[in-house]
Amino acid sequence: MTLDLVQNADLLKEDVSRPFSSERFNMRRLPVLVGRVPIESIGNHPSSLDMLIKLPGGPLCLPEPYASCDGVGRFLVACLAREDALLPGWRKTHHLYLTFDRREVQPGGTHRNEGWHFDGMQGARYPDKLNACHQYVLSTHLPTEYASHPVDASGLDDLRHDWFRELGSQIPEATPVFRPAPGEICLMSAYQMHRSPLAGPQDGGWRTFIRLDVSLKEQDRAGNTLNPDLPAPWEFVPRSLPEGLQTPVRDAGWERGEKFV
Ligand SMILES: [Fe+2]
Repeated sequence: MTLDLVQNADLLKEDVSRPFSSERFNMRRLPVLVGRVPIESIGNHPSSLDMLIKLPGGPLCLPEPYASCDGVGRFLVACLAREDALLPGWRKTHHLYLTFDRREVQPGGTHRNEGWHFDGMQGARYPDKLNACHQYVLSTHLPTEYASHPVDASGLDDLRHDWFRELGSQIPEATPVFRPAPGEICLMSAYQMHRSPLAGPQDGGWRTFIRLDVSLKEQDRAGNTLNPDLPAPWEFVPRSLPEGLQTPVRDAGWERGEKFV
């Protein structure tokens, strides 16, 4: 898969410096490689979902057991260094949210929700779009797959369309897929189509997925993991897609994994 790496990095910088815009899905892109964490340095910790670990202008507040984990520390050091280069001033403006998701993947199944999608949708709740979210992602096994194929989001409505289904269906079955190595950190913007890979017959097993979301949003969805060391200054509320756009989640079962509380 060939892509001008300098052009690709410039595109990502533009992505995160401008308000979310459906037009930017129509550009060929791949994530930027940030570094690599030895997967043996990542502990077998319970799972957390979009846990607030930094408020704009505040310090990083990472609770145990993540705070003492060598692998999580290496991951964050690499991400923060990259973020300082990508978006000077972000520490005063953006939130950080950590997902640490460790579950057992069954052959023929996926760890996280199946199918092409993107992270960082700004739907009807954000009539005035914020600068796009971006995420640092690594997996210890069955790394996340990325498609460079451009997709057309023009005409999609926040309330009437399932954006993941509409955009995912535009990616050909045989599209080239980029797969980083286990432990490699990928930086992607909200316009990057990606998916949790299907485990082959011999590929089942434990998989840890780590994501650092850098966002202007207050992620207040009920069910997100609460940080005992950093209470969020907002109420958590149930959020769901509009009626008729809800599709069943196909993954390894969030309820089945050990969770951080
Ligand atoms: Fe995702």
